[in-house]
Amino acid sequence: MNKDINVKELLDNLTLAEKIGQLQQLATTFYIEDSEGELTGPLNDLGISEDKIWTSGSVLGVNSAKEAYEIQRKYLEKSKKKIPLLFMADIIHGYRTIFPIPLAIGCSWNLENAILCGQVSAKEAALSGVHVTFSPMVDLVRDPRWGRVMESTGEDTYLNGEFGKAFVKGYQGDFTSKYNIASCVKHFAAYGAVEAGREYNTVDLSDRQLKEYYLPSYKESIDQGAKMVMTSFNTINGIPASGNKYLMRDILRDDFNFDKIVISDWGAVLELMVHSVAANEKEVATKAIEAGVDIEMMTSCYNNELEELVREGRIQEQLIDEAVLRILELKKELGLFDNPYGIVDDEKARQIYACEEHRQAVKSVAKESIVLLKNEQVLPLSQDKKIAVIGPKADSTDILGGWSWQGEKEKITTLRESLINRLGNESVLYAKGCHVDNNDESLIEEAIQVAKQADEIILALGETSNMSGEGGSRANISLPGVQQKLADEILRLNKKTVVVLFNGRPLEITNLSEKAPAILEAWFPGTEGGQAITEVLYGDYNPSGRLTMSFPYAIGQVPVYYNHFNTGRPISSSIEETRYVSKFIDIPNEPLYPFGYGLSYTNYEYTDYRLSSDKMTKDETIIASIKVKNTGKRAGTETVQLYIRDLVGSTVRPMKELKGFKQITLKPQEETIVEFEITEKMLRYYNMDCELVSELGDFYAMIGNNSRDTYQEKFTLVV
Ligand code: NOJ
Repeated sequence: MNKDINVKELLDNLTLAEKIGQLQQLATTFYIEDSEGELTGPLNDLGISEDKIWTSGSVLGVNSAKEAYEIQRKYLEKSKKKIPLLFMADIIHGYRTIFPIPLAIGCSWNLENAILCGQVSAKEAALSGVHVTFSPMVDLVRDPRWGRVMESTGEDTYLNGEFGKAFVKGYQGDFTSKYNIASCVKHFAAYGAVEAGREYNTVDLSDRQLKEYYLPSYKESIDQGAKMVMTSFNTINGIPASGNKYLMRDILRDDFNFDKIVISDWGAVLELMVHSVAANEKEVATKAIEAGVDIEMMTSCYNNELEELVREGRIQEQLIDEAVLRILELKKELGLFDNPYGIVDDEKARQIYACEEHRQAVKSVAKESIVLLKNEQVLPLSQDKKIAVIGPKADSTDILGGWSWQGEKEKITTLRESLINRLGNESVLYAKGCHVDNNDESLIEEAIQVAKQADEIILALGETSNMSGEGGSRANISLPGVQQKLADEILRLNKKTVVVLFNGRPLEITNLSEKAPAILEAWFPGTEGGQAITEVLYGDYNPSGRLTMSFPYAIGQVPVYYNHFNTGRPISSSIEETRYVSKFIDIPNEPLYPFGYGLSYTNYEYTDYRLSSDKMTKDETIIASIKVKNTGKRAGTETVQLYIRDLVGSTVRPMKELKGFKQITLKPQEETIVEFEITEKMLRYYNMDCELVSELGDFYAMIGNNSRDTYQEKFTLVV
């Protein structure tokens, strides 16, 4: 076969069973018995005969270059039509060299970091035999109980859209380089809105919410050229996404013009039966193919039922042909008909896994992802002081995060090791203090004694990797185990102490933030996390990260997000004492740390905020400008954020919405003017009739360095 292959002819040459085979995705274990490939769901007995394996179209979770080569070789030997397999896997924040989790990458507010993550991951993965990655996940997330918030870039529609595009750009480039892999956007749709943050749970959303807040980020990634879309496990308004015609035909195919492959999530097709919208596999297959699922991941309703359904005239063969064509097209685009093994190369792959260049890349992204939440003259630390590093995350290699199944743990330098490399063995005392997640308090006393001997203390606390990610929902999002107790004891010593947090979600840390003089949010920082944190702690890098997901004041506030509505009875200073306003009687309405928030070792002063005009028409734009000055003694990178509020709409508008951001790096005492162009497009929203329009009237344009503290000016959209 060759690159000029005519996929239509190829399709015509397939039997119905062979066509249906192309729609089947199986895990590696089906092809080679001793595979250690990635398993991310239940392994059911699919009830398929062995010959169906040799007509299948794609493989999930290949483990290594050798394995990819071997599976392809065996498949081509055994299959009759010899259409090469497509290999797909979850390469989410790095393959062997691990970047910080996506939520952390989002907090860098630097789209180049997502591109870099995509490029480095794609290179390592492509050499290891992967053709498609199940990334980016662009689900909007507002509930930190959901473990998968780690895999998203946060609570803002616009920012998620921008990051989605950047990841796709990174993986796919222009799809001409041998190191480009295809990107699969997921989970379509609105998986991030699962009730109570409980994994695989129900989603119920108005069409307006869906269109305005949840769908745009998928659309952005699709417009960037993503080659695939994955359906989600959840129901939406009573219909499971994986059998949802409205989502896949009306929105994805018709509105978004997406003409590429749709794949189900693991087992989500058969789960239509568990959701009780289909009585048997036949109904399942009918619903899923009619709704628009092309590839069935890890269940076999298509394989078991579609042939008969076609013969009975209940399913048009045309539907199957369309799906197969899309799959063959991608195989062709990837060059698999020219060379089924592509660039898979075990030796070359090993040479670049965690190579110096990739380690530098993950380190620089990690530094930019760290968010300084609090600092009462503790940081940066001074090099000449004796330090005690205490806590269950201090010397832990569990810092890669939830989607790092291929990550090389042996390449990790822990925080403690990084500190020793910098300060020398004698200057770094260590005590574990407690475990991440059990009630054993027996190590706390030793930690207190160690802490007493030091001048400065680093308290490394947090979650284990598997407390977030898929299947990692938590009802209680405070520090697990006895870590708060350890923190209380250590903080009682009143030494210069900084808490460094390793976690996959915003945590409930109100108590800790009252007591600790400094807190650094490091997330799961990846392979070079220890080193990156050390460089931030000692001021080699001035922290610049900003939260992309609010930290709740208490779990009972959740969901708490910056772009909320005003309500008919908002709290205002004049009526704050009244009972009958929208508030909690025991906690504030505001989150502990808001969206966009993060400190620096320097200060920035914002002055001279102005709009170029207080009026604009639909064809004009106006410029919002502000002077930003670094008034401190260190250079730093500031993220200047533009928010807009529509003061009166035909439907209720949020208090503010992010519409732009700019990162500037300023030397001490340096100042610059930051400008944003406000366009009519930024003012559009879904009106009464759910049409995307802008409406004449007044708006606030707000600029600040987080969503809470902004300067505002009014302007009017006129005819
Ligand atoms: C289930 C997850 O929801 C999805 O994100 C992932 O890509 C698949 N499993 C494949 O591993």
